[in-house]
Amino acid sequence: MYILVVGSGGREHALAWKCAQDISVSEVFVCPGNAGTALENKVSNVAINVDDFTAVKDFCIEKNIALVIVGPEQPLVDGLVDYLHSNNIRTFGPSSAAAQLEGSKKFSKDFFIKYGIPTATYAAFDNFDNAKEYLKQIPYPTVVKADGLAAGKGVIICQTESEALEALVSIFKDQAFGDAGTSVVIEDFLVGEEASFIAVVSKDKIIPLATSQDHKAVGDGDVGLNTGGMGAYSPAPIVDEELHQKIIDEVMKPTMRGLIIEDSPYLGFLYAGLMINNGELKVLEFNCRFGDPETQPILLRLKSSLVELCLAAIDDKLNDYQIQWTDEHACGVVIASQGYPEDYTKNNEVTFESSAMDGKKLFHAGTKLQDNKVLTSGGRVFCATALGKDLQEAQSKAYDLVESVSFNGAFCRKDIGNKGMK
Ligand code: AMP
Ligand code: GLY
Repeated sequence: MYILVVGSGGREHALAWKCAQDISVSEVFVCPGNAGTALENKVSNVAINVDDFTAVKDFCIEKNIALVIVGPEQPLVDGLVDYLHSNNIRTFGPSSAAAQLEGSKKFSKDFFIKYGIPTATYAAFDNFDNAKEYLKQIPYPTVVKADGLAAGKGVIICQTESEALEALVSIFKDQAFGDAGTSVVIEDFLVGEEASFIAVVSKDKIIPLATSQDHKAVGDGDVGLNTGGMGAYSPAPIVDEELHQKIIDEVMKPTMRGLIIEDSPYLGFLYAGLMINNGELKVLEFNCRFGDPETQPILLRLKSSLVELCLAAIDDKLNDYQIQWTDEHACGVVIASQGYPEDYTKNNEVTFESSAMDGKKLFHAGTKLQDNKVLTSGGRVFCATALGKDLQEAQSKAYDLVESVSFNGAFCRKDIGNKGMK
């Protein structure tokens, strides 16, 4: 069978690599992909613009694609899955309506309150003056969030009223986030430790994936600007068995039930970003997709077929599905371009030393292939991912793999995984 993965990041390289391992899969296409997917065995890139839904559909029909997996949030929110479903193409991912859980902070916060899902106290505003008035009544720090998709940059933590006012000016007046900033959510600042919880969901059925923890800040020790994620490891000891069950009961199940009541049952990866403080949990956000870079270490640990899992979800057969993991630990370290998450250089040539180590995989993210050379093309360039008998071994192998890659301006955090060994 033939598979199509939509997207071009490290997550999509990992998804395509995993699908290609199935003996039942003849070829995986990635639209548009990166240098890693271009070079991967049984995987090839397709030069179709993801916004061109008709072209994606025509390609699926021409190649008789048996399964489409949509990686990133934008095409999900824009309705690619709805469109492909209406053309009878089997697609794994949420409808545009269900993807509003990520696509609109106001939608998701209102949804949390309506269905009793624990979250920070908030108010939403679609005009500057009312939002400004509200700043006078609240405690600090506070958090100002642009409503729409802002590539992980639309959340501003404000220590004082004047910082919050600056955030409102940048969102409403300077339109720093464009249409994503036509309204804002202002919510209480939460303290605690963050954890991600990612599951495969189909209507009211859930298969939780292995636990993981991301590292969002750019600098060691969680300092500096927030990024899309600088590295992740799995399993994450912060999510113990008791907390795992609590997340399913208090967050995932009410969300799945709420979406059914709203007539938008969920299909796809569902990702809850949580703040945990003394065992109490609150939802910071939902993502309507697999995490990047969490996908990379999680999929390295997955023994089951990802293709079978996605097809079982589409066919509403998750009840009978038994997911299998290796007991080994995985660690993934993002190698980024100097300057990221702000402006960074591109088109630097990458050189690779061969590495004979077992249980490791270098996933590409912002790379492109030009004249048989691998060039950098994004802020996050690779995720060096490795398995080990414990987190320490996985971490040390991942950092060995980092050493085998070089390009001008490459940097990574040096402490990915340390939190899991505390
Ligand atoms: P979000 O996209 O809503 O998850 O926000 C991105 C990041 O901002 C989160 O991963 C947290 O580190 C931080 N953040 C968001 N909301 C809050 C909050 N209410 N309190 C503290 N930190 C927050
Ligand atoms: N790693 C966080 C995210 O995918 O949003």
